[in-house]
Amino acid sequence: MTDRLSTGLPRLDRCIEGGFERGIITEIYGEPGSGKTNLVLYASIKSSEMGKVIFIDTEGVSTERISQMTSDGSVLSNLKFFRIRSYEEQLESVPKILNLVQSMNEVVLLVFDTITVHYRAEREIRAELRRKTSNTLITQIEMLNNIALSMNIPVILVNQVYMDKTTSEVQPVGGSALSHIAKAIFRIQKLGSGKRELVVVKHRSLPEDVKCSFAITERGIE
Ligand code: GTP
Ligand code: MG
Repeated sequence: MTDRLSTGLPRLDRCIEGGFERGIITEIYGEPGSGKTNLVLYASIKSSEMGKVIFIDTEGVSTERISQMTSDGSVLSNLKFFRIRSYEEQLESVPKILNLVQSMNEVVLLVFDTITVHYRAEREIRAELRRKTSNTLITQIEMLNNIALSMNIPVILVNQVYMDKTTSEVQPVGGSALSHIAKAIFRIQKLGSGKRELVVVKHRSLPEDVKCSFAITERGIE
């Protein structure tokens, strides 16, 4: 087994040396509509031809989009979705889901889209909970990192962005915990009319600022 899992898209694989690394967390962040879900969903569908894929979802994956991406419905039996609807549900369910995953065989990929969304909402409602929520987020990221390591699979965490007012740059939310633990970080940029760019922000064997172009199309990504 190589140490990379294909993204499902040969041009992206060539650009990032074979795909997503096994045994580590990869973080993917970008603006709303930048294509994060399209990218991870496409990789999940393609990977489900090889084994089980766990997809933890906070936004409600479009079944229509899934059927646009694959004509082979049989592979979808390998794709397991877990829907997380609130911060409380995330706290309670994620450890249970991860325990279940550890008891499963033939898991090739775990995706969490989007790990921080309920945290962000919770903090906006109750700012005084900032420290407590940070700790629980770090705990979840550590659990996910242990899964990546112990099962030797890629764990992909999708993240949102905020505008940093001092630098006027978009930054991933969730503080530095995730960016420290993630050993690969990619940002997706919109270039307009379906065109997108995956930019290497941090990687163990690629220079930063490597850019990989792809497009969002009717059938997925190309
Ligand atoms: P958030 O979850 O809101 O942060 O966004 P995201 O980064 O996950 O974006 P997502 O992957 O949902 O991509 C949404 C983009 O895909 C939008 O710009 C859509 O226009 C585009 N898109 C969806 N379906 C199609 C399609 O059939 N053809 C084309 N060209 N684009 C599509
Ligand atoms: Mg999304």
